[in-house]
Amino acid sequence: MFPILTVLKGKDRALINRHPWIFSGAVKRLPKAQDGDIVQIHDHEEKLLGYGFFAPENQIVCRVFEFTNQETAVDTYEYWLAKIQRAKDLRTKVIDSNTTNTYRLINAEGDFFSGLIADVYDKVIVMQLLVRGTEKIKAWIIEAFLELGYEAIYLKTKEVSQKIEQVQTSAMWLAGEPQEKILVRENNILFYVEPMKGQKTGFFLDQRDSRALVGQYSRGKNVLNTFSYTGGFSLYALQNEANLVHSVDISKTAIDLCKENVHLNAFEEERHTGFAEDCFDFLRHNRATEYDLIVLDPPAFAKNAASVPNACRGYKDLNLLAFKRIRSGGIIFTFSCSQRIDRDLFRKVVFGAAADARRNIRILHQTTQPADHPINIYHPENEYLKGLVLYAE
Ligand SMILES: C[S@@+](CC[C@H](N)C(=O)[O-])C[C@H]1O[C@@H](n2cnc3c(N)ncnc32)[C@H](O)[C@@H]1O
Repeated sequence: MFPILTVLKGKDRALINRHPWIFSGAVKRLPKAQDGDIVQIHDHEEKLLGYGFFAPENQIVCRVFEFTNQETAVDTYEYWLAKIQRAKDLRTKVIDSNTTNTYRLINAEGDFFSGLIADVYDKVIVMQLLVRGTEKIKAWIIEAFLELGYEAIYLKTKEVSQKIEQVQTSAMWLAGEPQEKILVRENNILFYVEPMKGQKTGFFLDQRDSRALVGQYSRGKNVLNTFSYTGGFSLYALQNEANLVHSVDISKTAIDLCKENVHLNAFEEERHTGFAEDCFDFLRHNRATEYDLIVLDPPAFAKNAASVPNACRGYKDLNLLAFKRIRSGGIIFTFSCSQRIDRDLFRKVVFGAAADARRNIRILHQTTQPADHPINIYHPENEYLKGLVLYAE
């Protein structure tokens, strides 16, 4: 028997449409349950709608992970193992294991697993527990990963999950041999990933497809990769015979690892230079080189609704600087990973920058996150990454 959360009449529409978040204002009766407990969700007529993780203190009071009108044994290891197995089956369909051994295995709501992110680096999983609910079933998650053949598991903490969602476990190795640096292969390009020191889970797996597209346009080009992190886009440009590549990131640690990655793939080091600098300053003041291809992949400027106007100004300034620097006939890859800024708004901001630059700009491609970051059609909030590939004259 599970504790029961009953939804108000008229407030169950989103749930019937399988949106996985229940807001506190939609609740008729709260369950007698603790933070993170699994609860049954009922409509106002006490018909079963599904199961979710309860979070009494949160605006999102329940995160649904199973929509069903059948009693289901969701409090068993077998249930969670099967869910993770289905996520793995999908990855075997969308990731070519001959060329790539690093991918996202669990994409939270995108895998009907609210509150869990799990990225695979060869045999290592780096996971983030985003809510108390997934923290409470941590032992089953670990056991399932090991049963499915992964050899080590590192838990990476997220500040917002600790502060707002009361997740308590600190960053630590939960299983297997700790590894400071993991060697991975993405489309046959080698990268070192540092799960403990690195940003996010260690690598930005969500740009795999766009990195490959940069590769297609790089031959013979002068490429500027701003916000380069450890060189994702730079390495694809070098692999595809770019004339020169400049990587710029404010983090010296990231630039050092970027240089190591260039070395690791045996690319000629004279074709690559890394700059540990602010990208806005670099675009304004470093004028020695003319670029044929510029990548703009900044961190999320809008962290919440209140910061959207400032974030838009940031994106506009950045894109304007790039439009002023790109050679005629050049290509700009511009991205936003701010979940609060949707595709339309981002395009309007880039439009504003293009108009100010008074250049002819055309859209060649519109990009998004790759297939190992599936988007739950009922949960559009899951779609955060937007990209435009622009031709500048
Ligand atoms: C979204 S990540 C880029 C990921 C990268 N494109 C890749 O494929 O791995 C954003 C990066 O911007 C860097 N960064 C943040 N603010 C910066 C700034 N003002 N100037 C330069 N780099 C900055 C961060 O250190 C981080 O590495």
